[in-house]
Amino acid sequence: MAKIAFFSTQNYDRRFFEDNTGGHTFEFFETRLKPNTVKLANGFDGVCVFVNDGVNEQVLKALSEINVGLVALRCAGFNNVDLKAAEKYNIRVMRVPAYSPEAVAEHAVALIMSLARRIHKAYNRVREGNFSLEKLSGFTIHGKTIGVIGTGKIGQAFIRIAKGFGAEVVAYDKYPNENLKKSGVEYLDFDTVLERSDILSLHCPLTPETHHLINRESLAKMKEGAMLVNTSRGKLVDTASVIESLKNGHLGSLAIDVYEQEEKLFFRDLSDLIIRDDQIAQLMIFPNVLITAHQGFFTTESLREITSTTIKNFDDYDAGADSDNEVSCSLIKDC
Ligand code: NAI
Repeated sequence: MAKIAFFSTQNYDRRFFEDNTGGHTFEFFETRLKPNTVKLANGFDGVCVFVNDGVNEQVLKALSEINVGLVALRCAGFNNVDLKAAEKYNIRVMRVPAYSPEAVAEHAVALIMSLARRIHKAYNRVREGNFSLEKLSGFTIHGKTIGVIGTGKIGQAFIRIAKGFGAEVVAYDKYPNENLKKSGVEYLDFDTVLERSDILSLHCPLTPETHHLINRESLAKMKEGAMLVNTSRGKLVDTASVIESLKNGHLGSLAIDVYEQEEKLFFRDLSDLIIRDDQIAQLMIFPNVLITAHQGFFTTESLREITSTTIKNFDDYDAGADSDNEVSCSLIKDC
């Protein structure tokens, strides 16, 4: 049985994994895995990390020096792991490739509907006894064009819901999906999706190629007044350009569940501190911006799925078995 050190542990991680150890032994650390915390993994077979643990070459080298052979991600994205270095130091990397993609897709839709109908404003207004409708006028999603960037598991779940609204769906993916084409999804080049979309939702992974996919140039190609939704990874979007576009009135509204500098903020209660990140502070006061703190995945169903798949990953590692959940340079495109 494997001995695993958990990093970036939240109460809910502890609760779910303590209820379902699969016979493995766990120790839970709240700190992120980084060069100056890696020594905590001494004596363990593997580490279990989340989206903002920085598993770079320095960390992987240090892990190999203390004979840690597994990095198990409690998430799908693996942009925070240097896979080339993992291969070099002979460390296996496993992830949870799918845990209720519908959860993230539904969260994206919740953000869209809140912004479109100004629910975030109306909620506060009614609580204060203000029943006026002034400045709450929204827009109908039916008949609008929704652009989807990345038509993998989450993108597809999102498209199913978008179609239910009676919206026209256009998509861009580096590797278009033939079945989706047959089902009537119109694939276009990236620029045309930007030009056509009233709502643009990002569902592609963060790679060197997609870093700042949404920047000053791409924002300029978007329809005036369009809504941008990012539930994928913060660094897909150049925050400074988005702020500029919101300020000059070109971008109509923004919904984000992920943020470029989220490592310094998200998953922590900072309510009694001064937020030193000027960009998020600015976004927080815009009336047409809605921010959630990386909660797209956060449903009971997803947490169950994450736990059971991660335990299976520990089992496979312990048994030296092959795993479909393993990510390595040789297995993925764009390493
Ligand atoms: P997936 O691997 O099933 O789909 C990703 C799609 O993006 C694929 O179809 C791929 O071909 C496409 N793609 C790759 N490079 C591209 C490029 N340069 N341009 C356009 N498309 C490209 O992944 P899945 O499960 O749909 O997840 C998508 C992303 O959602 C993850 O990478 C992760 O960053 C994010 N995520 C966010 C969560 C949250 O809580 N907010 C939870 C889970 C995932």
